[in-house]
Amino acid sequence: MDDFGRLLAAIEESLGIRCGQYKEDYIKRRLFSRMNATDKKDYADYHAYLLSNPDERERLKNALTINVTKFFRDPEVFEAVKRDLLPAILKKKSRIRIWSAGCSSGEEPYSYAIILSELSFFNKDMNALIIATDIDREILKRAAEGIYERPALENLSDSQVRRHFTKRPDGKFEVKPAVRERVRFQSHDLMGGVPASRGLDVISCRNVTIYFTDEQKNDLNRMFHGALAPGGYYIIGMSEFLGKEIAHLFKPYRPREKIFVKDPAAG
Ligand SMILES: C[S@@+](CC[C@H](N)C(=O)[O-])C[C@H]1O[C@@H](n2cnc3c(N)ncnc32)[C@H](O)[C@@H]1O
Repeated sequence: MDDFGRLLAAIEESLGIRCGQYKEDYIKRRLFSRMNATDKKDYADYHAYLLSNPDERERLKNALTINVTKFFRDPEVFEAVKRDLLPAILKKKSRIRIWSAGCSSGEEPYSYAIILSELSFFNKDMNALIIATDIDREILKRAAEGIYERPALENLSDSQVRRHFTKRPDGKFEVKPAVRERVRFQSHDLMGGVPASRGLDVISCRNVTIYFTDEQKNDLNRMFHGALAPGGYYIIGMSEFLGKEIAHLFKPYRPREKIFVKDPAAG
């Protein structure tokens, strides 16, 4: 076995990622980007670094699973959105604007759209739109198609699948128009700074900023604070944190689910 083979075996063992599911070329590109970032000159050098550095294992895992997402990822977050957050907004207004920033192949924005569809039964005059953005134009094309394999829907109940998806002749599942028409996809680089919109009620930016520096994250969080309406909500990934420097801009709303609310007095 050569150095590359030994590194792959170590990745399989310590990261629990099946490397065989990826093309070799794809893995090599991702590995080179991490080797560059860590200043390691060859596979053996990087292998040794990986084994002695848990943070790097996390970074490599994220580099390999860069677009990974799923419907209702972390179901407890979406449960809080459905049970508490959206009903609280709907008590005050019928117009709702949500920004799914870093939406990947669409599962996240469609999850919000499914919840909104279900809530619209009791809120007939609701006017809701989800702005879904990503830097990756290819993944956005797939998102806009809204066609998924059955395993992607594992967090949905059978009745949700029946209500919100059409089964196609090829066995895949297509998002129904009533859900799809609530989502508007557009390409956008979060590092570019300009928000997709202002006066937003919810910004969901989950599992996106892993490669951003602390300074970039702080700038982004300030930008999100400015783009949210007073009392708007900010949702981050379950393993993410608001940096100390900007934590005062948001108050915890559901801390366990990493949902915050804009503090309009701050900023
Ligand atoms: C791991 S996915 C997260 C998808 C979804 N938010 C979730 O939590 O399931 C990260 C996404 O962020 C996007 N992304 C990375 N850097 C970005 C940037 N600077 N601007 C916009 N999107 C970005 C990637 O293209 C990828 O689709």
